[in-house]
Amino acid sequence: MNKENNRGQWASNIGFLMAAVGSAVGLGNIWGFPYKMGASGGFAFLIVYLVLVIFVGFATMLGELALGRKTGLGVIGTYKVLSQKFAWVGWLGFLSGFFILSFYSVLGGYTLRYALGFLMELFSEDAGFGGLGSGAFFGSFIINGGQNILFHGIFMALTVLIVMGGISSGIEKFTKVAMPALLVMLVIVIIRSVTLEGASTGLAFMFAPNFSAFQELGFMKVLKTAAGQMFFSLSLGMGCMITYGSYLSKNEDLEKNAMIIPIADTIFALMAGCAVMPAVGAFMYQGVEGISFGAGPGLLFVTLHQVFSVGMGGFIGNLFGFMFYFLVFIAAVTSSISLLEVCTAYFIDRKVQKGEEPNRKKLSTIVGFLIFIIGIPVCLDGLGSGVAGGATIDIPAVVFGMDEVRMAFDCWLDFYDMISEGVFMPLGAILMSIMIGWVLKTGVIKEEIESSGIKMRAYAFWDICFKYLVPIGILFVLIGQIDDFFG
Ligand code: PFF
Repeated sequence: MNKENNRGQWASNIGFLMAAVGSAVGLGNIWGFPYKMGASGGFAFLIVYLVLVIFVGFATMLGELALGRKTGLGVIGTYKVLSQKFAWVGWLGFLSGFFILSFYSVLGGYTLRYALGFLMELFSEDAGFGGLGSGAFFGSFIINGGQNILFHGIFMALTVLIVMGGISSGIEKFTKVAMPALLVMLVIVIIRSVTLEGASTGLAFMFAPNFSAFQELGFMKVLKTAAGQMFFSLSLGMGCMITYGSYLSKNEDLEKNAMIIPIADTIFALMAGCAVMPAVGAFMYQGVEGISFGAGPGLLFVTLHQVFSVGMGGFIGNLFGFMFYFLVFIAAVTSSISLLEVCTAYFIDRKVQKGEEPNRKKLSTIVGFLIFIIGIPVCLDGLGSGVAGGATIDIPAVVFGMDEVRMAFDCWLDFYDMISEGVFMPLGAILMSIMIGWVLKTGVIKEEIESSGIKMRAYAFWDICFKYLVPIGILFVLIGQIDDFFG
């Protein structure tokens, strides 16, 4: 542990990168990216997404890392120290982390259930999914509140266990093993997927130039979906990278790190697309029922289940099914630990500031337990205990119907997702950018970068991003959000 401040520090830059890329790569990449791409225009979505990463993602990443390393504090402490006017923004980040993790963990529990299901099927037929078809199994699972809570609890307990270990000997150690393993598993699944008969349909959907979605869905809709996806996928706008940056040594090259993380995250998202879409395309081509690119959020738990259990089928189907869902589970854990760390860091910082020795084990357990409790209503969504009391078991559109029914708050998951991903994260990013570009001035980032003895390379670009591109880009997202709300 770092003797100077008792907070801990990454043991190496590569360890930090594994943890940061691990935070970024998660359900957002393997689930969100392919399904949003599928439902929002394929290639057109991809191009908008890439442009956003370059002009909004890189700068926001750099801003977060630099501010965190400068203050050496978590998200709440950082904003408090930097600006009185913006002090409250840190709380947006903290609350986002809290709410996102409460549903993220429930979904992480789902992935564990599916991985175990395929594992059991390997040994005994019908043992894992009770002989039910994809849609029927999913329907029976989401109304089984007890099982949902159990898997949510297991997922959360695992998250706490890793965060308890601390920065270098908990988070860094885990992600240094998990991330390379993830890459290997993903490559294996991609090879299987692209060599299926008819796989090229899926690849063409992703990569063949086609901008018809701009007319069909409207440019603004594609932009808004891509922007929300980008923030979530890069773990930006809620201080996660501020927190991870605060454990980074003063010797490391911030500008380089701020480029590597989004590039790696985007490569993982594209790879996930290449694992999912060709398989979906292949079985659409072969005429397996119930499979389409635009399946929406049901893609991960219904369509892909169908791909493995019916499309591939047999021993191979179960083997790849297990490997795929286990991969998604690991990716979810490397992200959930960063979400828990955002919240835990606040309490640790408070102790350190009071001159007391922080008890990381105790603090992370308490915070993790509270998040577990907050997540329980999400586990019961399928039973119809929505915020408005109106959620039904008309799956998957209602339980996961982020876009169509998000505004109606038909279920807790939508409600938590709406306030965090929909409002707090873009708001947090816009405010951070305005604070850097207009209040503190981009010089504050330059100073932090150059404190490593490394010259800042692209001042003019970052300055334009902080002052104009990031705030204006996100403003469109927020307007779209408000428009949806009243529309
Ligand atoms: N980036 C993660 C994903 O794509 O699944 C989710 C996430 C992690 C969002 C950490 C925000 C965060 F702070």
